Amino acid sequence: MSRSAHPAGPRHADVLTEGHYSAPPADLNALDPKVWARTVSRDEDGVLTVGGRTVTGLAEEFGTPAYILDEADFRARARAWRTAFGTDADVFYAGKAFLSRAVVRWLDEEGLNLDVCSGGELATALSAGMDPERIAFHGNNKSVEEITRAVEAGVGRIVLDSFQEIARVAHIAQELGKRQKAQIRITVGVEAHTHEFIATAHEDQKFGIPLAGGQAAEAVRRALTLDGLELIGIHSHIGSQIFDMSGFEVAAHRVVGLLKDIRDEHGVELPEIDLGGGLGIAYTSADDPREPHEIAKALTEIVTRECEAARLRVPRISVEPGRAIVGPTAFTLYEVGTVKPLESLRTYVSVDGGMSDNIRTALYDAEYSVALVSRTSDAEPMLTRVVGKHCESGDIVVKDAFLPADLAPGDLIAVPATGAYCRSMASNYNHVLRPPVVAVGDGEARVIVRRETEEDLLRLDVG
Ligand code: LLP
Repeated sequence: MSRSAHPAGPRHADVLTEGHYSAPPADLNALDPKVWARTVSRDEDGVLTVGGRTVTGLAEEFGTPAYILDEADFRARARAWRTAFGTDADVFYAGKAFLSRAVVRWLDEEGLNLDVCSGGELATALSAGMDPERIAFHGNNKSVEEITRAVEAGVGRIVLDSFQEIARVAHIAQELGKRQKAQIRITVGVEAHTHEFIATAHEDQKFGIPLAGGQAAEAVRRALTLDGLELIGIHSHIGSQIFDMSGFEVAAHRVVGLLKDIRDEHGVELPEIDLGGGLGIAYTSADDPREPHEIAKALTEIVTRECEAARLRVPRISVEPGRAIVGPTAFTLYEVGTVKPLESLRTYVSVDGGMSDNIRTALYDAEYSVALVSRTSDAEPMLTRVVGKHCESGDIVVKDAFLPADLAPGDLIAVPATGAYCRSMASNYNHVLRPPVVAVGDGEARVIVRRETEEDLLRLDVG
């Protein structure tokens, strides 16, 4: 089982006696391609390169900390999802994982659609010229202003999350003289994280309308009567960082069951189902994610089989991967500031960022890998904890990892697989400035989100 901890993942109290880091890796200089962006390697001096650029050069030009994103890898992963699902399905990139205008343009060029979950994400997509028809708008409490803007812009679908929202969106659309395409998000009683899923009681959450007790059927009943809505399908999202398809299997079974009930009650076969996102990536070498073509094959087979059994036309499937596209494509580049050995415990390595650029370790007990990237080293492995510069002892970036014992201030280290939910969840805690996102490819590097400045901070503080 994977040891990468996530929202429902395992806790490792004592890495010295438990956990896969209890033995150091055979070669500390090796870069496991599972966790690093695809164009990453080391040059003849041992310096990590990505997109044809050295990290030492990038640090000099853009400073640290910085998120370094491999554009070719992002495009290749987006394309792999698109190709795997083919023309009979839609891939909506989940912008919450990481969104910028450059990303929107890459998605557009690679033929993906976009899932946004706030007015801010919608504004980013529209300002980058994304065709509104290819945007899905999510959220459990969209404001009237956000809904109005989305309907006016002509988004391809709004995912309705509650009874109130069904009425609200229908009303707004009608006022605007429109008929808004919509899906209803239901909770199917399945929650999946990493390798496991639990198939009971997961209506107990804020998202969606429960299938249980006939609530989803009632939501459909209402939506079908409202002139402002064109109900095009049912949506289900079961969790995050999932490796095992069995949770999707149960979800698809239940969603198709609802489609069948709708057909029987209303004589309507809804044309689409969305199975959400949540597909896992490798944060450490212990994780074994599945390839997009395997996932596409599995999901398509599940839905087709369920529909055949229910004698339904197979609906158009959509999925919403975020992490699985952007997660592996970036790493965070830090400079080591201090090294504090604690005898028979571990060595604390402080970097120039921390929980403000990666909250996932503190928030979810997530596991990450780390490597010395400005050089190689033949020194012995030392057990380290990579920590940030914040005034908080829980400010941990990598809880337990081996780095070479000659690690010193000024060395550059990098944490891979930080493309998803790191910049997008970054904060200004302690008024630390959020790092830039630098896209690299073909020997070129360009800032796609610039580093925050003290002027940015002070602009918001109106005194
Ligand atoms: N679709 C819906 C409706 C979602 O709620 C989410 C994620 C996704 C798609 C994309 O899921 P992905 O493929 O990226 O796993 N901040 C957490 C993850 C929260 C995910 C919320 N919803 C983390 O850092 O792990």
